[in-house]
Amino acid sequence: MSKPKVFVTRAISEKGFELINDFCDVDLWMDDLPPSREDLLQRVRGVDGLLCLLTDRIDGQVMDASGQQLKVISNFAVGFDNIDINSATARKIPVGNTPDVLTDATADFAFALILSVGRRLMEGERYVRNGQWKTWGPMLLLGIEMKGATLGLVGFGRIGKAVARRAMGFDMRVIYYSPHEKKPDPDINATRVDFETLLEEADIISLHTPLTTETRHLIDSEAISKMKPTVVLINSSRGSVVDLDALYEALKFNRIFGAGLDVTEPEPLPLDSPLLTLDNIVIMPHIASASKTARDKMSWMAAKNLIAGLEGITCQIVSIHRCINDLLTQGLRPCMSKLFFYNFLSLT
Ligand code: DGY
Repeated sequence: MSKPKVFVTRAISEKGFELINDFCDVDLWMDDLPPSREDLLQRVRGVDGLLCLLTDRIDGQVMDASGQQLKVISNFAVGFDNIDINSATARKIPVGNTPDVLTDATADFAFALILSVGRRLMEGERYVRNGQWKTWGPMLLLGIEMKGATLGLVGFGRIGKAVARRAMGFDMRVIYYSPHEKKPDPDINATRVDFETLLEEADIISLHTPLTTETRHLIDSEAISKMKPTVVLINSSRGSVVDLDALYEALKFNRIFGAGLDVTEPEPLPLDSPLLTLDNIVIMPHIASASKTARDKMSWMAAKNLIAGLEGITCQIVSIHRCINDLLTQGLRPCMSKLFFYNFLSLT
């Protein structure tokens, strides 16, 4: 019997790629850069499955270019704003993502940004390398103390909660804004507040919300004007949640203390962006989930989603035992039971 044809839009770790290769006839995009729109439209033609990245815009045109045989779209990311879910649903194509497996890596990184900006690590590093370090100074590179600071989390899903857990270890007060009531978590001491209160009270604001029409430019000049002048703003969600022109103005005139961005609008940030002229910002190339462990698990999960979709399974909670064995055979340590939920977003 012939194997299902799939297009994989970038090389992923072997943890998942080997599964796909065993089960499918794979067309792998080998370049380091994503396929152009033209290449994407051409290479999806006739495939049964598509494994794509957040750098690929997957809309109705791509789905139609592929053809009616397309059975599944598996996104190698937890965020799925690059995929037009409505178009997929209309065509009855299940879409998978990779929740949970990158929660800790991303929360660690958000915290790394909090500390980098709050304690001015990058500025200190530049100071040393530039030969400016002449002596110990009582007023040198003063930053923000974590203990007792109020951390405001925008979004209180898996990653927001994981950041809250880390903050508790630093004796911070945690408040969060979420448009939806969240089930109380007995291990996390955090208070739900409205958006305005969060902006006004937080010493550190960390964004963990998906990108939707409601959250695009949620952090604009008006939101920034309500923040404390000493606030640190961190974004490891999606670049478009922050209006970068407004952020630049605020940072330039020290209306806020600093910012740490793992994500920007656009990506990559153009080299002539004025943000790159500022000292009070740390900008990273969208690497919050880039631990080896997380990327291996994302690869494995994206592969499993792709194969499940090809097999016609659109929503399932697979037997935990079977999956734990699967994971161990792959040399991966299971993290949470939810890992085994193949999250098909569009048809459930
Ligand atoms: C995601 O998965 O959505 C991240 O942005 C990349 O890991």
